[in-house]
Amino acid sequence: MPDGFRYLPEYFGRDDQAALIQAVLDARASAPFWRPAMPRTGQPLSVLMTNFGPLGWVTDKEKGYRYEPSHPETGAAWPSLPQKLLSLWQEVANYPAPPEACLVNWYAPTSKMGMHIDWDEEATDAAVVSISLGDKARFRLGGPKRGGKTASVVLSSGDVVVLGGDARRCYHGVDRIYPGTSTLLGEEDFPGGGRINLTMRRVTIPASFPGWKPPQGLC
Ligand code: SIN
Ligand code: FE2
Repeated sequence: MPDGFRYLPEYFGRDDQAALIQAVLDARASAPFWRPAMPRTGQPLSVLMTNFGPLGWVTDKEKGYRYEPSHPETGAAWPSLPQKLLSLWQEVANYPAPPEACLVNWYAPTSKMGMHIDWDEEATDAAVVSISLGDKARFRLGGPKRGGKTASVVLSSGDVVVLGGDARRCYHGVDRIYPGTSTLLGEEDFPGGGRINLTMRRVTIPASFPGWKPPQGLC
């Protein structure tokens, strides 16, 4: 695994996991899951999305990948980041400013995420912090070039992954999920079950942090 990759298994216990799912449900009225589309082709993604935080990651046919302050369908500001997530960021991100976006991806039993690098943030020195909830998934991490060597790890509910340092600019994706491996997502709220992944990001470069220098060795 590249430098800057951290895997923190079972970081969140069952009660914390349930509280995070409840926060997603509590936000439904203003920030329901919607189905995003690829730039240009308009092809729908296989995950449903929503966001927490002052900025949210969105994509559609016309304007492509970007951050927006409001939900594309309701027009409402994204709900604020739950305290548990802000605390996690403080503990693991090693960054002098809070996260601005938390993308919420809901993987159905057949959803995947193709290999990609997160490129849409200005604050490229800030780690991406990811939380897995619900069914297990096989997460794959490669290098800075597409098509290079990869390694995989099966992520379970409550696990945290940090993509910092070199790993921040490495290809990664989700090969598959393992349906029925968790009872966290109730059938009533999440028909078909599946997996929720939360990824926190710093988007803009913080105005001024005296003495702060970005870590060395980014790829
Ligand atoms: C992502 O890279 O955006 C998702 C990672 C994951 O679902 O674990
Ligand atoms: Fe990503």
